[in-house]
Amino acid sequence: MDMLDAQNAAAAPPPVIHREDYRPPDWLVPDIALDFTLDPAATRVKARLSVTRNGVHQRPLRLDGDGLTPVAVRIDGEPQADAWRMDGPALLIDLPGDAHEIETEVEIAPEANSQLMGLYASGGNLCTQCEPEGFRRITFFPDRPDVLSRYVVRMEADKARYPVLLSNGDRTGGGDLPGGRHWAEWRDPFFKPTYLFALVAADLVANRDSFATRSGKQVELAIWVKPDDLPRTEHAMAALKASMAWDEKVYGREYDLGEFNIVAVADFNFGAMENKSLNIFNSRYILADPDTATDVDYDNVAGVVAHEYFHNWSGNRVTCRDWFQLSLKEGFTVFRDQSFSADQGSAAVKRIEDVRALRAAQFPEDAGPLAHPIRPESYIEISNFYTATVYNKGAEVIRMLHTILGPEKFRAGSDLYFERHDGQAATCEDFVTAMEDASGVDLTRFRLWYSQAGTPRVRATLTHEPAGGQARLTLEQEVPPTPGQPAKQPMPIPLRVALYGEMTGEVFGGERLVMLEDQHQEILFEGIGERPILSINRGFSAPVTVVSERSAADLAFLSARDDDPFARYEAMQQLMVDTLVGAVARGSADHRPVIDAVQDTLRNSALDAAFIAEAVLLPSESFIGDQMAKVDPVAIHAAREALRRDLGQELEDEWRASYAKTHANRYEYTPAAKGLRRLKTVALGYLAASGAEDAAIIAHRQFRDADNMTDRQGALATLANSPWPERDEALAAFYDRYRDNGLVIDKWFTTQALSTRDDTVDAVEKLAKHPDFTLANPNRIRALVGAFSVNQKAFNDASGRGYRFLADMVLAVDKLNPQTAAKLVPPLGRWRRFDEGRAALMRKELERIVATPGLSKDVFEQASKSLG
Ligand code: PHE
Ligand code: ZN
Repeated sequence: MDMLDAQNAAAAPPPVIHREDYRPPDWLVPDIALDFTLDPAATRVKARLSVTRNGVHQRPLRLDGDGLTPVAVRIDGEPQADAWRMDGPALLIDLPGDAHEIETEVEIAPEANSQLMGLYASGGNLCTQCEPEGFRRITFFPDRPDVLSRYVVRMEADKARYPVLLSNGDRTGGGDLPGGRHWAEWRDPFFKPTYLFALVAADLVANRDSFATRSGKQVELAIWVKPDDLPRTEHAMAALKASMAWDEKVYGREYDLGEFNIVAVADFNFGAMENKSLNIFNSRYILADPDTATDVDYDNVAGVVAHEYFHNWSGNRVTCRDWFQLSLKEGFTVFRDQSFSADQGSAAVKRIEDVRALRAAQFPEDAGPLAHPIRPESYIEISNFYTATVYNKGAEVIRMLHTILGPEKFRAGSDLYFERHDGQAATCEDFVTAMEDASGVDLTRFRLWYSQAGTPRVRATLTHEPAGGQARLTLEQEVPPTPGQPAKQPMPIPLRVALYGEMTGEVFGGERLVMLEDQHQEILFEGIGERPILSINRGFSAPVTVVSERSAADLAFLSARDDDPFARYEAMQQLMVDTLVGAVARGSADHRPVIDAVQDTLRNSALDAAFIAEAVLLPSESFIGDQMAKVDPVAIHAAREALRRDLGQELEDEWRASYAKTHANRYEYTPAAKGLRRLKTVALGYLAASGAEDAAIIAHRQFRDADNMTDRQGALATLANSPWPERDEALAAFYDRYRDNGLVIDKWFTTQALSTRDDTVDAVEKLAKHPDFTLANPNRIRALVGAFSVNQKAFNDASGRGYRFLADMVLAVDKLNPQTAAKLVPPLGRWRRFDEGRAALMRKELERIVATPGLSKDVFEQASKSLG
């Protein structure tokens, strides 16, 4: 190849995979036996596959590989040098009969695996990550989720170095070998796709417990961690047992094996992985104790433990036919973990948090160049589709089914789905059909939620005719165009609606579930004797943006009286957003309505602290930006800070009272104590914003005297935003105290990356050179780079330094870990939302990324689509 050819080859865009092109596999592999001789530098993997021809065809057996070179290939026990050939990274074998036995042998180097896909080393231990396409980095196999096999896994390793050997299913053998080595054999009786395979060879200790299923089966539970971390596993264990009981009670699903293992590792691309009976976790979603984990961390641990456990049915027993169906398991499982968490604590606060997360991550995705339906139509790299859309909007779509069908019919639908498809690789269509068949409800139009991208906008107008006692609700919907989908059909949108009487404060006739089916629809309410106030999309019954012109007075009314806690929160948010958007547009705004509404909420003794803390928090700078035609990060920051200062000053007595009320509390992990801690730090933030002279002292005292991480980190965040001299001292003290705990040092990076100070870009550039910053650990990258890129003010610094920093990081990380690099790209794709100057600077960085030779297809896809 000469230079020009080499360049052209490098520039040829990677192939696009289309959902429509799905074809069943040519060959099935009902059984596989794997034999690992483990070593960090050179691991031998022998695989024996029994393959059967699927259907009538003459096509060869294609075994996917990624970076593998066959050491040996045998067919039906014989070495067959000319029956196989390489086709790029894949191994092709021509087979005469309909059933054969294929043996392959390869050598891999886990310690050189920086992608963290396949078999890799983390903290001196060996572990695997196979979803979505990591198995092909371990051995040759048809690496697709519709090929289901029974696995027998034998592994041998140095006993002192790797005393613990784990895989899926049940341990069926093991023992010592000469030379200080040992072996273990595991068998998984359930058919599973490659992506659920897992293996761990490690020096870890276990927190052991057990769970008796409702049919009386005893399940041995173990959470494997480094010895020092053992005391931090209690919360995860409690969450695991609670999840097992919850899935029995709410979905009728029992655990199906004698063992359930969880392993925590420090280096992990995502949150956690649901490998059959051997979940592997990012340690940040397992480890928690009061000194090192915040209340939010505790909630995340419980939520992710539940999520992975629930996958045993929604994902493993019934898996996905192809990766376009990812939301089948992820949307459903997120809905299940959200419902579980809602049942464990405050359902209202959980719903507020989930909607806030959806609006922070998914709404911008739906409004930008990477928008895709929850069931995408095409991809270059499937790893790029583990998105807020597939997960969180996917969960909202399942929640809408739950709302439309009601809990009983929904449960009948899920029962039918599990029964019908147990042991199969299913599709989103199968799920909807099961819901339809079990409920008798026609879901033909509902399927649009799977195929259309974009967040629908619903305009709601309420008019009142006092004479006839009628109210008319006019609803109009519009689904914005998204890449590849210029014109949209109207979606079926379930809206929970109530009308409140302005004088009496009563709800007319209770709440109604309105199904908006058409582009335009009118709903008549009778017996409305006084002016009604509209409460709509209660509980956030649909993932849409509602536009309704409600006066500040009406929003204040709802924020004080609505009996749906979400709607109540939402009314306050709307009031705040209207005020802030007005302030940015006109340079100033009347803060009085917000101040009065916040005061009412703070003084309302019927509300719990957790709800109050959520309700009085101003919307984030990015959320305010999302409501505007063009984002002006400087003006948004100024407007929000001005409102924060006024709220702080005008309500200083209330903040002091809230702080005092919550301050004395000793640490306890209960919903009530969590709520008080949340309110305490929110109050501290407003006191700091007020400019009160003693705010620095209060913050520093909270930091110094804290008996838990929630209080300590809350105070540190306030200090980190401040110009106070206590700031640097606190950051240094925090670092010194936790220098040996990577997860806490992540917080130290994040707190500084999120700072609202003017010198944050400098600070972040400097932190990237800190000895504790490393590109090898995804948590650390996200802690600094990921956090910085959502700091709207600092990231969008008019100089473009923030953009350049991010692009530099993308390119540096891409050389080691393309998946993690690709996840950093989307903030640069928001360029259309900004002024010309910033847009040009962002585009320049995206162009620089795309033009870089040797780019991964992961980053290529995200960056090139972001330019589009
Ligand atoms: N399937 C995992 C989950 O959602 C996420 C994941 C995807 C983990 C890819 C690792 C790699 O539970
Ligand atoms: Zn999942």
